[in-house]
Amino acid sequence: MSRPVITIAELATHVDQEVTIRGWVYNWRKKGKLRFIILRDGFGYLQCVVFRPEVDERVWETAVELTQESSVEVTGVVAADDRAQGGFELKVSGLEAIHISPEFPIGKKDHGPDFLLNHRHLWLRSKRQHAIMRVRSELEFAIRDFFQSRDYTLIDSPILTPAACEGTSTLFETEYFGDTAFLSQSGQLYLEPAAAALGKVYCFGPTFRAEKSKTRRHLTEFWMVEPEVAWLRFDGLLDLCEEFLSNIVARVLDRCADDLDRLERDISKLEPTTQRPYPRLDYAEAITKLQELGSDIQFGEDLGGDDETTLTELYDRPLLITRWPADIKAFYMQPDPEDPSRALAVDVLAPEGYGEIIGGSERSDSLEHLERQIAAHELPRESFEWYLDIRRYGSFPHSGYGMGIERCVAWICGISHLREASPYPRLINRLNP
Ligand code: 4AD
Ligand code: MG
Repeated sequence: MSRPVITIAELATHVDQEVTIRGWVYNWRKKGKLRFIILRDGFGYLQCVVFRPEVDERVWETAVELTQESSVEVTGVVAADDRAQGGFELKVSGLEAIHISPEFPIGKKDHGPDFLLNHRHLWLRSKRQHAIMRVRSELEFAIRDFFQSRDYTLIDSPILTPAACEGTSTLFETEYFGDTAFLSQSGQLYLEPAAAALGKVYCFGPTFRAEKSKTRRHLTEFWMVEPEVAWLRFDGLLDLCEEFLSNIVARVLDRCADDLDRLERDISKLEPTTQRPYPRLDYAEAITKLQELGSDIQFGEDLGGDDETTLTELYDRPLLITRWPADIKAFYMQPDPEDPSRALAVDVLAPEGYGEIIGGSERSDSLEHLERQIAAHELPRESFEWYLDIRRYGSFPHSGYGMGIERCVAWICGISHLREASPYPRLINRLNP
């Protein structure tokens, strides 16, 4: 019988069998006639034990020659061992070096963030980064599943666009055959028409903001998921935000327990998010509360990062702040019928000071209102004519929101800076690697 080539994730079904595993040397140590090689293959970590009296001299020589991150093919018998990390150990019989790595740039010593980001392509191999990428992948899958299983249709919105969605100050421009194109800030304007065609839609893709801010919460390129739902009113939108967050967080907690453990994430801080309802504060209530707590924020102002932290520290799960002053929100929002100076907008703030993760609103369904808004925001009317058609031909109430994936990943993983939530982060001062 030929020897199976397996991954570290498959060890449990091969106990006491001889198998081959391909991977990289994560670490190694020696002790007399023993060499311990910690192998990683992308699926897990496995201690491989080379005992000199029991292997060919050639195998021993290879074991001695191995360096951190050398690529190898290891053969041996799988032994169940409670003391070993992951519960298994490999008793090595064969070992082949595929490539001996020179000294790996990322070693045991502490490296600064710039050094690590310059070596992002290699840094991804580290345990923490591996775990974060696994959580991100599971989160994105959970999000797709959430919408697909509720009959939403995926609409891939364009990246090259003729106009702004979220304000002109953060647009990336690019020359477009003698014209100007902008990198998409949001797929929303393209989803609203699609909602009239398909009822419930979502997009999920890269979005771009030429944010001048160098905060730990801003990337210039990030991924956003955006649902848009026909006939959904503001109250239904708030419920959808809760249903969405409670579901996807529960799924990640369920499926990424090992990864979150590796990140030393305190799961008890995430568990309340799987329970509904979430606290809701009218914007005016939020301002009053902040003032009571010592903030100098005034009614009409946007919440700063510190304000967001102050508020979310009061709750154990995400906080919905509703009915914002229309002046500080985007042009397309539906005015509050009880007070048209306010917009039917919601920001969802993550707990533990992670800040805004979702921004959404009911959309204006009035042609006249939108025409006034486009003028007031000094947006180029011609570029929005097609968007206004949605209010010309069978206008309908509808609502939607957008969630930045990196903000959600950072919160779930408990990492302080968004740059670690993206495999290749783009920041104001970083385009490499
Ligand atoms: O609040 P924003 O700007 O809302 C929109 O773009 C709407 N058009 C979405 C919609 O209603 N369909 O952005 C939505 C979310 C934020 O809550 C945040 O999670 C994320 O996108 N986000 C960023 N993430 C990383 N870096 C940045 N510079 C971000 N800007 C927004
Ligand atoms: Mg926002």
